[in-house]
Amino acid sequence: MPVDENIKLPHNIKTMSTDLTKEIKRRRTFGIISHPDAGKTTLTEKLLLFGGAIQTAGAVKAKKASKHATSDFMEIEKQRGISVATSVMGFDYKGIKINLLDTPGHADFSEDTYRTLTAVDSSIMVIDSTKGVESRTRKLMEICRLRNIPTMTFMNKLDREGRDPVELLDEIEDILQVHVTPLSWPIGMGKTFKGVYSIYEKRLILFKSHQKQNTKDIIEITDLNDPKLDEYLGLQADKLREDLELISVYPEFNVQDYLEGHLTPIFFGSALNNFGVRELLDAFIQFAPHPREGQTDKGAVLADSPKFSGFIFKIHANIDPKHRDRIAFLRVCSGIFERNKKVHHVRTGKALRYSNPTAFLAQDKEIIDAAYPGDIVGLYDTGNLKIGDTLTSGEKINFHGIPSFSPEIFRTVVNLDPMKTKQLNKGLEQLCEEGVAQVFSKLNSPSRIVGTVGSLQFDVITFRLEHEYKAKCRFDPLNYFKACWLISKDPLILEKFVKKRHAQIAKDVKGRLVYLAETKWSLNREIKENPELIFHFTSEY
Ligand code: G4P
Repeated sequence: MPVDENIKLPHNIKTMSTDLTKEIKRRRTFGIISHPDAGKTTLTEKLLLFGGAIQTAGAVKAKKASKHATSDFMEIEKQRGISVATSVMGFDYKGIKINLLDTPGHADFSEDTYRTLTAVDSSIMVIDSTKGVESRTRKLMEICRLRNIPTMTFMNKLDREGRDPVELLDEIEDILQVHVTPLSWPIGMGKTFKGVYSIYEKRLILFKSHQKQNTKDIIEITDLNDPKLDEYLGLQADKLREDLELISVYPEFNVQDYLEGHLTPIFFGSALNNFGVRELLDAFIQFAPHPREGQTDKGAVLADSPKFSGFIFKIHANIDPKHRDRIAFLRVCSGIFERNKKVHHVRTGKALRYSNPTAFLAQDKEIIDAAYPGDIVGLYDTGNLKIGDTLTSGEKINFHGIPSFSPEIFRTVVNLDPMKTKQLNKGLEQLCEEGVAQVFSKLNSPSRIVGTVGSLQFDVITFRLEHEYKAKCRFDPLNYFKACWLISKDPLILEKFVKKRHAQIAKDVKGRLVYLAETKWSLNREIKENPELIFHFTSEY
C-alpha cells in the first residue's frame, strides 16, 4: 500500500514500504507469444542486447535447437538444461527491471506456455508479416484474452515482401478479437522498405539493414507536410501521408483499453535487423503494467501489500540425474521474499526456508537476498512443492489461475519391469507434479492413464522414466477424445452417473472425478442429457 506520510510508522517499516512501492513500479514481467518461426528468439535476443544482458548476438540461439527437434526427444532432453537458464531472463533497461519469461516453442508443450502466462503481467505478440495471424498465436492470444493480459504487437520481418499492413491489422481484429492501434507505420516493405514512421513519437526512423540504428537515421517530423519527408522518402512520402490518413480510422491509443486487454498497440519492424525494436521496448517500459494484484480464493492481493505471497508456476526436476534436484519457479505477487526467512506453504501448512534462492539474469543465475513482486525466483526443492502451490508469510490463501487443461492424447501405462513398480509410480507422480503429463487412475482398477496435450511428451516421459527412475514402461494408445472434470451440486446425481458410466470414470492425482469421453459426439450427448452435472474442460473451477 502506498505510504501515507501522515501516519507515523516506525522508521524501518516506512523505509521498507517505500522501497517496495518503488521496486514494484520499476518492474515489468512479460512473455513473448508467437507462432514458431515468427521471430520470438530473434526478438528476445535483441531485447537482451538492449538490456546489456548479453554481449553478442547468437547467445540465445542455443534454444532454437529445441524448436527444430520436433521428433528428437533426446535433443529436447539436452535442451532442458539450457531451457532452465533461459526460463527467465532478467535485465535492466533505462532503470526498469524487466523479467522476460520464456515460453516453449513447441506446440506439444503448450500447456507449459499457458502456465507461464499465469505468471506474467503483460505480453508481446510477434507476428510474421509475410504470414499474418497463425494458429498458435491464435491459441495463445485466447489465453491472454481470458486473463485480460495486456498485449503489444510486433509485426516482424518488414524487410521481406509481406502482406498489406492494413490487411494484417484487420486480420488481428477479426481473428484475435482485439482492437488495434498502430503506433508506428511501415514505409514500403521488402526491397522498398524505407523504415517506419513512429506515430506516437512523431518521428521518421530510416531503415538500414544489418546496421545499428544511428541517431542521424531518426528524424523528428511533427508535421506530415514537412518537406523533409519528401526529401528522405521521395515518392513514398505521399503514400505514407495517404496511409496515415487512412489508418486514422483506428481508435487512438487508449492506455486503459490496452491495460484491460481490449486493445493492442502495433509496432512494425524487423527483429533480425534490430529495427523497430528500440521503439517497441521504449513504449513497453512506458505503458506495460507493473505488478498490481493477484486473485486468490480469499480475494485480490495487492502487490504492494507488505505481506509476502507468491505461487509456483513451473518445476524443473532432475536436471542432474545424479542429484534429485528440482527447481521450482516462484512468482512473487506481494511483499518481499527474503532469503533464509521462513515462508508458509499453504497446501501442507509447513514452514519452509530457502537458503539459496536464485534469480535469473539472461544466461546466468545468482543467489539473491530479496525478491519483489513481479520477480521470478528459483527455489531448490526437495519435493515439497507442486505447480500451483502458494507460499505466503502466514496467510492461508491460494492463488487462482494455474489450471490443468483437458488432455487430448491418452495412453495407458504398461509396466515392463514389475520389479520397478515403485520407481515407475514415483516417476509418474513426479513428472505429473512437474506438469509434463496428467495421470488418471481408473476406478477399481490398477490401470493408469496418462494424458498429454501433445504426443511428443510420451517420448520424453518414457525416456525420463528410464533414465531418471530406472523404470521401464510402454504406452498403449487409448481412444479417448477428452477428459472432463465432473461436479454436481447433488452428490446423488453424481454418484448415479459414475455408476452408470463406470468404465469411463477415473480420478486425477488430487482424487477428483474425471469423465473420459470417447468422442465429441458422446461428450455433447452426456452434457445435454445430464444438465445437473457440470463438465469442466480445465481443472480450475
Ligand atoms: P521463433 O523463435 O519465433 O521460432 O523464430 P526465430 O527468431 O528463430 O526466427 C525464425 C527465422 O526467421 C530465423 O531464420 C530468423 O533469422 C528469421 N527472422 C527473424 N526475424 C526476422 C526479420 O526481421 N527478417 C527476416 N528476413 N528474417 C527474420 P532461420 O533461417 O530459420 O534461422 P537462422 O539460420 O537465420 O538462424
